[in-house]
Amino acid sequence: MQNSRNINLTLKIWRQENHAAAGSLQEYSLEGISTDMSFLEMLDVLNEKLTLEGLDPVAFDHDCREGICGMCGAVVNGQPHGPEKETTLCQLHMRHFKDGDQLVIEPFRARAFRVEKDLVVDRSSLDTIIQAGGYVSVNTGGAPDANAIPIAQKTAEQAMDAAACIGCGACVASCPNASAMLFVSAKVSQLALLPQGHPERQERALNMVKAMDQAGFGNCSNERECEAACPKGISIRNIARLNREFIKAALFA
Ligand code: FES
Repeated sequence: MQNSRNINLTLKIWRQENHAAAGSLQEYSLEGISTDMSFLEMLDVLNEKLTLEGLDPVAFDHDCREGICGMCGAVVNGQPHGPEKETTLCQLHMRHFKDGDQLVIEPFRARAFRVEKDLVVDRSSLDTIIQAGGYVSVNTGGAPDANAIPIAQKTAEQAMDAAACIGCGACVASCPNASAMLFVSAKVSQLALLPQGHPERQERALNMVKAMDQAGFGNCSNERECEAACPKGISIRNIARLNREFIKAALFA
């Protein structure tokens, strides 16, 4: 493990008062940042400094800071969640940067993600897609025994891998088409692979794709940027599965 160091940074951060205002990159200098800090802790230090100077702190989203909730996210030097593979912004540590580095920090940009303030974007369009079918309808009652419905191990693992999606929107931000196909495909796959998801699979695929299109997301053109940017390593094989689910549903619904 590397020893802790202190580094100096130049930050260029997108500042935008609200969705109607024009934004621009503003430059800030930070000195003595410990490489033990997380990226968000580094932004906390900047915000304390700005507050003490009587300036408006930088707005950014976060919640768990453990890579679980999907709330954090910004584009760092052109890469959603920064330079580390399969790492959320909150789990990115400053030891991956060098003394004197310049970091350009921007919000996730997409037609369906309105910039609300600085680095905060409205990602409720992803919630709208889930509401269109990303669930199973179940009757209330006691939980069935875990082994009551046998599922092949490989299938269970594929479903679990798809269920790892935290809905952060990095796939959208990285895609030149601002497509949400990786997100939708993960949510469709985690249910389509398991017997509990089968009764509603046709309407789920049709309704979620329709909601995705209505929200203004683009189409997939196999750039694979989404897969590279995903902090949970979601595979684009899920997009192939979504396409199969959608075509079968469109033909037989
Ligand atoms: S704050 Fe929850 S995943 Fe980053």
